Amino acid sequence: MVVILLGPPGVGKGTQAVRLAEEVYAAHVSTGDLLRAARRDGTALGAKAQGFMDAGELVPDDLILDLVREHLKGIAPETTVLFDGFPRTTAQATGLRGVLTEAGRQVNGVVLFVAPDETLVKRLSGRRSCPDCGAVYNVFFNPPGTEDTCDRCGGALVHRADDAPDTVSRRLEVYREQTAPLVSFYEADQAPLERVPADRAVDEVYADFRAVVEGMK
Ligand code: AP5
Repeated sequence: MVVILLGPPGVGKGTQAVRLAEEVYAAHVSTGDLLRAARRDGTALGAKAQGFMDAGELVPDDLILDLVREHLKGIAPETTVLFDGFPRTTAQATGLRGVLTEAGRQVNGVVLFVAPDETLVKRLSGRRSCPDCGAVYNVFFNPPGTEDTCDRCGGALVHRADDAPDTVSRRLEVYREQTAPLVSFYEADQAPLERVPADRAVDEVYADFRAVVEGMK
């Protein structure tokens, strides 16, 4: 089973995907996390992606599709895959069809998380991430027990460079211009697209999200 999590930056895709993946033993595939790992590891892909990410622009489609194709090879065919932050352009969505066909899979459904821009901006301004284990906190809504320290692994938390206000504005524009058209792309597709209101407490969003994904089986 393959489910795509769609929605603007800061809407909570990562937060929801991590929880569902843990509870149903699914693979959480976040292209943002894979790119940040490539940057940390100093790979050629990481170097190519850095400028685009820091500017709030999208990394070129061919690099992303190669990354996803390679990553999928390491996931057992029977494992559910939750794509988080991918695809982000119609070219990626079209390319994904081919990648999934090669892997004997197909898209079972799309979940669109929805929240107003004020909520997204506030969440991103308060986000703190652990570069060591990937845990995500928020100084307003979900602070760590000790300031700037990861509860899970003790790592030093960071405020992502692309969460700076100017870059967030650009990421929101890029979402509207290049990613939002995927809603009509998938509405015209065979896979069901379900909207989940995300401007609510994490647990409330999760209850709806999980029920929607269960219905896509
Ligand atoms: P990526 O890392 O994918 O960023 P994004 O899509 O902009 O999404 P975010 O991680 O910002 O938000 P999220 O929705 O996951 O929210 P989260 O759960 O963290 O991409 C970064 C960059 O990489 C891109 O700009 C691009 O350059 C490149 N890239 C990645 N994929 C690409 C692709 N496919 N093609 C091309 N380029 C690509 O939550 C946010 C905050 O809110 C957290 O602090 C969290 O604790 C809090 N929060 C979450 N839910 C709630 C809630 N219900 N109530 C209160 N607080 C909440």
